[in-house]
Amino acid sequence: MKNDWRSRFAENVRDFQGYPIGKTIQYLTDPEIISLAGGLPSPDVFQRSELRLATERAFDAGIDRIMQYSPIPGEASLVSAVLGFLKRDNIHIREENILITTSGQHGLDLLGRLFLEPGDVVLVDRPTFAGALVAFEMQRPRFVGVNIEPDGSDVESFARKLEELTREGIKPKFIYVVPDFQNPTGITMSLAKREALLDLSYEYDVPIVEDSPYRDLRYAGETIPAIYTLDQKREGGHVIGLYTFSKLFCPGMRVGFNIGPSEVVTRMTHIKEGNILNTPKYNQDMCTAFLEEMDFETHITSCRDYYREKLGIFLETMAAHFPPETGVRWTSPDGGLFLWVTVPESIDTAELFFDAIEHKVAFVPGEQFYGENPEHNHMRINFSFVSKEDLTEAVKRLTDCIKKRL
Ligand SMILES: Cc1ncc(COP(=O)(O)O)c(C=O)c1O
Repeated sequence: MKNDWRSRFAENVRDFQGYPIGKTIQYLTDPEIISLAGGLPSPDVFQRSELRLATERAFDAGIDRIMQYSPIPGEASLVSAVLGFLKRDNIHIREENILITTSGQHGLDLLGRLFLEPGDVVLVDRPTFAGALVAFEMQRPRFVGVNIEPDGSDVESFARKLEELTREGIKPKFIYVVPDFQNPTGITMSLAKREALLDLSYEYDVPIVEDSPYRDLRYAGETIPAIYTLDQKREGGHVIGLYTFSKLFCPGMRVGFNIGPSEVVTRMTHIKEGNILNTPKYNQDMCTAFLEEMDFETHITSCRDYYREKLGIFLETMAAHFPPETGVRWTSPDGGLFLWVTVPESIDTAELFFDAIEHKVAFVPGEQFYGENPEHNHMRINFSFVSKEDLTEAVKRLTDCIKKRL
């Protein structure tokens, strides 16, 4: 007799399709394809010898402890290193305000589990980070989105949505934003909008989740205070910060951290107890070494120089191939790893993706970054991973396939 597995699956995940980007990336097995699709940092900036040295030191200092279970909230040495790291951003918190996570994605999952029930409203940008959407989707919330503008979320539209929802008796669970060099657009939220978003958060009593993996990867302009910092100044206690070591150190470690009010952090820690227990000690020790022994400032400066040059190459090549009359536009980020290309509305980038694969180049179709009502004429481009030569070649290949459809 055939087993009907589907009917046994929990309702929350019965129709859950997983990470759409994963499905895009499965087409990229041909080594000749130049992929601008992933969100990968470049191995050219990996600190390989430093990692070997730190590993040796950590093994010598206590291999038995590395091979053992470790505290669920995180290793004390990493917690203390992170508290110091955050002071650079004028964020002053205590141990009870931080939970070490097993990557940014884990932090998002914990937040979804903690706050969301089916039908709960989450306010997001249009577009926003697809990994957050997929993590939250497991709890079957309703996403309400506002368009992102060149200086970040359309905060006035957030205000209108909050007003409408309040009239309907609905209180959103939180507002999710990536204010610095947003994935997927590369856009940064202005200081005025950060303050205005906080005003809304206080007025409607809706917390903000500030996801910040790229904050240190600034290539131009002045650093803007984190929303967490502004909230601390105003003594609001309305912000939960989400961080990862994936883009600054390496994604292979799968280590990140969440910060926020102790009541929230304690609850997230309980969920982590039932979910993965501890984050591997070795990985945490390597992140401690990254912050404390590997000359963080020199490393970050060289990452910035390296990625700035790649971004410049990409932007210059785009400008040379797509004069304004083609109707192809793109963002020009001040940092991060991504930018957002918009093609005329007559082109569906989910279809263009397959032409691109034939032309041996890949991107992520923009429709994957919408919580509702997707737009179909955008592409997310990652400029950090492929070599400089391949970046130029990738734009040429993209030009060939886009121009066929113009
Ligand atoms: C905005 C944002 N948040 C979270 C993550 C997840 O990072 P991690 O690789 O640590 O899971 C990413 C990764 O691309 C991201 O862009």
